[in-house]
Amino acid sequence: MCGIVGYIGPKQAQQVLREGLQRLEYRGYDSAGVVTIGDNATLLRAKGKVAELEQKIEEHPTTDGIGIGHTRWATHGEPSEPNAHPHHVGDIYLVHNGIIENYKDLKQQLEAYEFASETDTEVLAALIDSLYKRADVKLENAVAQALKLVEGTYGISVVSQKEPHKIVVARKGSPLIVGVGDEETVIASDAAALIAHTNDAIYLKDGEIAVCTAGNVEVMNLDEQPISAVVEKIETNLEAIEKQGYDHFLIKEIMEQPDTLRSTLSGRVVKEQNLLRLGGLNMSEEELRAVKHIFVVACGTASYAGQLASYYIEQFCDDVTIRNEVASELRYRSFNVPSNSIAIFVSQSGETADTLACLNEMKARGVRCLGIVNAVGSTIAREVDGGVYVHAGPEISVASTKAFTSQVSALLLVGLVMAQAKGIEPKVIEQYINEFDALPGEIQAVLDRHDEIRQVAERYKDYDNAIFMGRDTLFPTAMEGALKLKETSYIHTEGQAAGELKHGSIALVDDRFFEVAFIDEHRLFEKTMSNVIEVNARGGHVMVITNSTRDIDAETVVRIESQLQLLTPLVLNVVSQLFAYYIAVARGNDVDQPRNLAKSVTVE
Ligand code: AGP
Repeated sequence: MCGIVGYIGPKQAQQVLREGLQRLEYRGYDSAGVVTIGDNATLLRAKGKVAELEQKIEEHPTTDGIGIGHTRWATHGEPSEPNAHPHHVGDIYLVHNGIIENYKDLKQQLEAYEFASETDTEVLAALIDSLYKRADVKLENAVAQALKLVEGTYGISVVSQKEPHKIVVARKGSPLIVGVGDEETVIASDAAALIAHTNDAIYLKDGEIAVCTAGNVEVMNLDEQPISAVVEKIETNLEAIEKQGYDHFLIKEIMEQPDTLRSTLSGRVVKEQNLLRLGGLNMSEEELRAVKHIFVVACGTASYAGQLASYYIEQFCDDVTIRNEVASELRYRSFNVPSNSIAIFVSQSGETADTLACLNEMKARGVRCLGIVNAVGSTIAREVDGGVYVHAGPEISVASTKAFTSQVSALLLVGLVMAQAKGIEPKVIEQYINEFDALPGEIQAVLDRHDEIRQVAERYKDYDNAIFMGRDTLFPTAMEGALKLKETSYIHTEGQAAGELKHGSIALVDDRFFEVAFIDEHRLFEKTMSNVIEVNARGGHVMVITNSTRDIDAETVVRIESQLQLLTPLVLNVVSQLFAYYIAVARGNDVDQPRNLAKSVTVE
């Protein structure tokens, strides 16, 4: 997704912007640009990676102390230099995340302007410029007046040579953080680009504008009435963002799951009291007891995390119905929300447009909304009525791994706390607590066998088709494993309920495909084995991932020793994470930034 950086202070703005854009590369983009303001404005843009832009910076160095920069993930107009940000119109230089939905209408009112790009952003820049030309209009006045005419979402930073000592920023539906340092101010759409300079930040809210000068920030609303802004501590550090010696962020994040899972559970599982507690739900025991319907809404991996957790919750909260929905579908459906419903939104980034749209719809209907979110201070985290931060740390790789494990666990905790309020048997709580206690160690045991799994991956790396299957809690596990493989290796991978094989997919079984079957010793072992036998009988190439010690006839069997009875899927899933990683590496792919994908899909 697009990234924004801005700087004003004593340092060389070009270098600060370049480093900031590098820290945002993981979000996925296809062009980049910077502008700095001094005696002249130096605007440099390049299609492709930040490295292309760096070449131009080296050719056109400046010592200016103010500037803005951007990495663009194309929405309106192809990836190209003319479409790259910053956009320059008249006295305005502008970078923008989000979508201006009424840009065509606005463009018609700006007939005096000739547009060099196909973007909605250039129209916004022209609109601001048209207002800025009026007498006695300061930059922030022009920005505020323009944004009142805009429909859609934006996170913007604006500079002008007419007022070269300020950066005006604003947000609506796209995150913007203002880092306040000693005599310098750093702006970014993601904390990763700030923390090299300061841990003190203002998380701008929707509808707010900030006038940033060196070391000072004035926040106001669109009517330009001042707002007292809260300076918060940014909860991350540079080291957490670096690869820490791993070849890729993806393997780093897979390997750190025992620790990040402990972080998710820390302070929330009180083993000695057989108690689970969550501080941020903002729901009383009575309100928890009254819940009868739960909507779980998410996209991609987060949706599979929601589906997996839901299998457990419907078991131990037997008076609750759960409806799992992918956000991109729910947002356009006509659906009834029964009384006593809550909606839970699962999102690593907390910025996914489809998920946010459903959150806004549920809030408009007066439904209590909870978030299961990783990115602290993200939009979804701020818009919900309560929820759980999964505390998995920054997840840089586009493919989500550690967040999945933490999301499932956090959502399980919500369900168990609700079940506690409903008077669940203490022995059920005790069983889950014991399993959570053992889970990090069991995941570590799988990680310790990473080289064995790498060798297995070598056998399957040249296939171009695969089917992942499982039953019950291993069905969403199969879906997640399929997504991991397809998005990192580009192997066409279908995930499905094993019981569905005979309803169609078994027609695909031949030497072009391999199949992965997840089998749980404690759940439907025989049923899933019958699916493996069906595939074997048709010459399939089956790899079984299992916690069972029984004889299994399959081309490959990856056996995981496990004492778990319930949370087995979270252990078997680590096998398919490693499997996907090693195949992607073997195929020479851009493991952390797979083609066409973005870390946070902030447009629909
Ligand atoms: C998962 O590996 C993908 N990167 C993608 O499906 C992701 O899970 C989805 O876009 C949802 O993102 P979110 O959790 O940030 O909302």
